[in-house]
Amino acid sequence: METLWPTSKESSESFADALCVWVVRLDAVGALGEEVAATLSAEERQRAEQFRLEQARRRFVLTRAALRTLLGKQMGVPPREVPLVLGMHGKPRLADGACAVDWRFNVTHSGEIALIAMTIGCEVGVDIELVRPVRQAEHIARRYFHPRESAAVRAAASGQRDVTFLRIWTAKEAVLKALGKGIAGSLTGFSVPTGPHDGAWIDVPDRRCWLQPLEPVHGYVGAAATVEARRAAQLFTLDWREM
Ligand SMILES: CC(C)(COP(=O)(O)OP(=O)(O)OC[C@H]1O[C@@H](n2cnc3c(N)ncnc32)[C@H](O)[C@@H]1OP(=O)(O)O)[C@@H](O)C(=O)NCCC(=O)NCCS
Repeated sequence: METLWPTSKESSESFADALCVWVVRLDAVGALGEEVAATLSAEERQRAEQFRLEQARRRFVLTRAALRTLLGKQMGVPPREVPLVLGMHGKPRLADGACAVDWRFNVTHSGEIALIAMTIGCEVGVDIELVRPVRQAEHIARRYFHPRESAAVRAAASGQRDVTFLRIWTAKEAVLKALGKGIAGSLTGFSVPTGPHDGAWIDVPDRRCWLQPLEPVHGYVGAAATVEARRAAQLFTLDWREM
């Protein structure tokens, strides 16, 4: 699996106006796995123990370790000491007053890929999905998408239907995750572009989000959204050996 983004040793290039997004290959951690897993808090390790599926457990542990490491580097603290707490609807954030810099971040994982998005001063959401057959894509779209989005899924050639659905799905999820609502938010209350685009403002009730498509690895589709701020995505591949 070849990632399409460059690796970066130093990741602090001007976060102020940028959205830095790392693609994390969960299958590339190799022998470093145990070492990076040791960066989790006791609470997170306890949560990891509760996953029934080994793949889900590993995905959570490695993504959280990567997040802690990236935040720790920026904050100048060891990964384990990064004070993560859960906000409303379970969105991880930094504890109030933990840092003079207003870091905001979000993570997503699917298959063997995670994305970690970080910026300063505005909320961010990110979502990725492995492209795969989606059972009842048209039905789900009719029920939960905006009519324009649902029409695009219906109109897609049969070989393109799954990817069309997943592009729209990840865009909507990214917006809802930026707002901190996740699936508790309404998917029908706003619409996203259904064709190719490099970035677009999305109107959601009382606010707007800047949405960008992200396709870091062949076979995956995703998107990132920032609330009330247009932040150009800078894309990196996380190198586990540099962590
Ligand atoms: C967040 C959510 C969208 C996850 O979707 P998903 O496609 O299964 O998973 P993803 O990999 O894209 O994202 C998961 C990550 O999003 C983050 N996250 C969790 N809740 C979040 C929220 N409300 N908003 C934004 N991000 C959230 C977490 O970091 C999580 O990863 P982690 O658990 O490994 O730390 C979904 O679980 C959700 O909507 N949760 C909120 C549910 C809720 O509010 N329930 C209220 C009672 S019904």
